[in-house]
Amino acid sequence: MSTLWYPYVQMKKKDDYPEVVSAKGVILNLKSGEYLIDATSSWWSVIHGYNHPRLNKALNEQIKKMAHVMLGGLTHEPAKLLADVLVEITPKGLNHVFFSDSGSVACEVAIKMAVQYYANQGRPEKMRLVALKKGYHGDTLGVMSVGTDDESMHAAFKHVLPTQFFVTPDDVKELETVFEHNHTVIAAFIVEPLMQGAGGFVLYSAEYLRQARVLCDRYDILFICDEVATGFGRLGKLFAINEAGVSPDIMVLGKGLTAGYIGHAATCASSKVFDAFYDDDPQKAFMHGPTFMGNPLACAVALESLALIKDTGVLAAVAHIETQLNKQLKNIESDYIKEIRIKGAMACIEVDNRVDMKRVQDEAKKQGVWLRPFGRFIYTMPAYIVSDAEIKKITDAMTHCL
Ligand SMILES: Cc1ncc(COP(=O)(O)O)c(C=O)c1O
Repeated sequence: MSTLWYPYVQMKKKDDYPEVVSAKGVILNLKSGEYLIDATSSWWSVIHGYNHPRLNKALNEQIKKMAHVMLGGLTHEPAKLLADVLVEITPKGLNHVFFSDSGSVACEVAIKMAVQYYANQGRPEKMRLVALKKGYHGDTLGVMSVGTDDESMHAAFKHVLPTQFFVTPDDVKELETVFEHNHTVIAAFIVEPLMQGAGGFVLYSAEYLRQARVLCDRYDILFICDEVATGFGRLGKLFAINEAGVSPDIMVLGKGLTAGYIGHAATCASSKVFDAFYDDDPQKAFMHGPTFMGNPLACAVALESLALIKDTGVLAAVAHIETQLNKQLKNIESDYIKEIRIKGAMACIEVDNRVDMKRVQDEAKKQGVWLRPFGRFIYTMPAYIVSDAEIKKITDAMTHCL
């Protein structure tokens, strides 16, 4: 019996997992001597590929100075610099950055900020949230309440979660009705902009986000964009919300922030939000502070990753990947396919329930490709350095069983 408890799996039925001993670029080298092309970039985080010389160097240089120091009562340059750079590159008005250690926690922070924003103004009744159906914002308790559970994911916790409002993406009328009837108790509307990742790579329109911004302003509701999956170029723009040309009040970043090197995340807030905490009253301070927030190693690698994004034309690379994914997948025909969705460096084939997903994964592995399908979704979100030949191998593996 394994001492190591793995995520999202019935341990009693778990197969032996491939053991990775090293990784470089998009390649995972296995203990067995085989290698696999990683089609998932480790849950969409390793945006520049594994073992990148510039990222390694940034970490090595930082570790000679200090691996960690707390941000409670102390400060340091890597965190200050990263906050400055994030303010510069994120949508206009997001002028303050709060660090934490994972995407889930950064979304919790966003929710707490929204709730306390109204509490600080004497309106504690504004504490409920509106979220999109099929959303996912992480696995901690608060964010599970804004993720709709499919039949398996968070069902075991339903009874302990606060009840929130759920709306369908692209249905502006429904959103307006929910806001109209409940705005006095709603603190925030939280979305994954343009693409709902873990919910099945569901795409929806930038127009909906624009309308949501207008409605949030009209009904005095904060607009939270969770860019943990979509940020840092994944869908073609540096941030997905850029496609809508509006700014959220709060934006959450994770995964690609540190190029998948170290768990870290950021919750960026507008001056409007920050100002509601800026007061002589200590009770109005923001009450959160993870031990590893602003970890210097994480900040150093994030700064270098952002420099790489600038220097290496990542957005052009993503546009090229999108073209290749379209070329390889758009004309695939199969009775098993319900829909193919492609945007930026993301492709998802939604299949019907006749497809044996375990077989899809096993066959892909035989072809040297690491796929991790879930639900009815066979997807790729590769590192941006993936070559055309590697994309072809990935898409061949995705469609092999169809
Ligand atoms: C949109 C979104 N938000 C939040 C999270 C949670 O991030 P983490 O796994 O770092 O806690 C994820 C993870 O997949 C995500 O896709």
